Amino acid sequence: MTAQPVLDAPVPRPTAVTAPLPVLGRDVEVPLVTGEKVPYAALDYAASAPALQRVWDDVAAYLPCYASVHRGAGYLSQLSTDLYEESRRTVAGFLDLPEDHQVVFTRGTTDSLNLLAAALPAGTRVFVFATEHHASLLPWRRAGLRPVYLPAPRSPRQAVAALEEALATAPQGPGLLCVTGASNVTGELWPVAELTGVAHRHGVRVVLDAAQLAPHRRVSVRELGVDWVALSGHKLYAPFGAGVLAGRADWLDAAEPYLAGGGASRTVDHRDAGTVAVEWHRGPARHEAGSPNVVGSYALASACRALSDAGPDALAAREEVLLGRLRAGLAEVPGVRVLSLFGEDHPRVGVLSFVVEGWNSSHFSAALSAEHGIGVRDGLFCAHPLVRSLLGDAGDAPARCGAPEPSPPGERSLNAVRVSFGAGTPEEHIERFLSAVRSLVGDGPRWNYRTEGGRCVPDGRR
Ligand code: ALA
Repeated sequence: MTAQPVLDAPVPRPTAVTAPLPVLGRDVEVPLVTGEKVPYAALDYAASAPALQRVWDDVAAYLPCYASVHRGAGYLSQLSTDLYEESRRTVAGFLDLPEDHQVVFTRGTTDSLNLLAAALPAGTRVFVFATEHHASLLPWRRAGLRPVYLPAPRSPRQAVAALEEALATAPQGPGLLCVTGASNVTGELWPVAELTGVAHRHGVRVVLDAAQLAPHRRVSVRELGVDWVALSGHKLYAPFGAGVLAGRADWLDAAEPYLAGGGASRTVDHRDAGTVAVEWHRGPARHEAGSPNVVGSYALASACRALSDAGPDALAAREEVLLGRLRAGLAEVPGVRVLSLFGEDHPRVGVLSFVVEGWNSSHFSAALSAEHGIGVRDGLFCAHPLVRSLLGDAGDAPARCGAPEPSPPGERSLNAVRVSFGAGTPEEHIERFLSAVRSLVGDGPRWNYRTEGGRCVPDGRR
């Protein structure tokens, strides 16, 4: 039996939906386990947000003119090169970068932070809270760097104090703090400006992981004072494979290119047998070897324009309303526990993780999909130390749903369910999600589930 068979059932008309920024996929219907079809409720924006309609329109308009960037004399190559460089300026404006900072296009946040790690001066101490996403936690474990993992703070004030204490006793030398803007697990905002103030007082630079922040809040590098910011296009409504590392040029210009190859090299000479002399570019080109991803970069810039036009503050205010409804709705469901590091009242973006007493989270998420057409994520969300500490787990429990049967009431869940949304989310999706949660918790699932290929799949009516 397939996970969700498509049967010949009457197809209901999609519910009319409205959201501030139209996204693709808003009319896509998915089959339920019963064979009925319903409009898909995408509530996994924190993993990958749907493409903005405007991004798709811009990309579709550009694609007939697509040609090589920085390596063609033809009209369309010139046009593509201009669009690529214009995209860089658009992203710089979106992030309110100081004049002397630069935008390097990458594949995404993980790539951006690995690029920065590869460019850090030898011996750099990198301070990072153990609660970070793996993309922020792991790139510094390389030869020549000295990562310092700070313990999970339980309040912003504790975070600032922990950094202050670590820096007060740290030896001299180059240093970097890597900090997230908004948690991909709890959605909670981190005290970035305060942490940056402390870091800078101690001569330590700061890179902001804005992967979850930029889709939800205005990010001003000038105001926050951070030295670099990393983000991903696919979380910013532009799923065409581009990301950004924006910020100071000095360490990046002094480093070996991230990738060696054409585009990064200014001149290459074969002078003597066995010797090739290379002069590398300075600036963004130094770390953008190979043919640039002009479609991805143009899409990302288009998303930046769309978000700026809609007004990040207005989008955030509307998101707050939906978040309030979501949290109030979940608070009324018995046995639901929302995960939080900094406490219930701490500001957060539209990302929320929870566990349901008596339920394995993978089972719960599978039932949301199969029985209600709702897409969320379950697991440890590439932030294992954080989620395990929030779940009160000793740390070596398996992340996967091994046996998709409800755990006995009172037993700790080994993973969590995450619901996340944004500027393309209609209110109806939040209401449908809450009604599905109420129904699953109140009445139980209508189907049995089993594990197949590491997934929970329906296995016959109960
Ligand atoms: N970092 C992404 C998430 O949290 C993949 O889902």
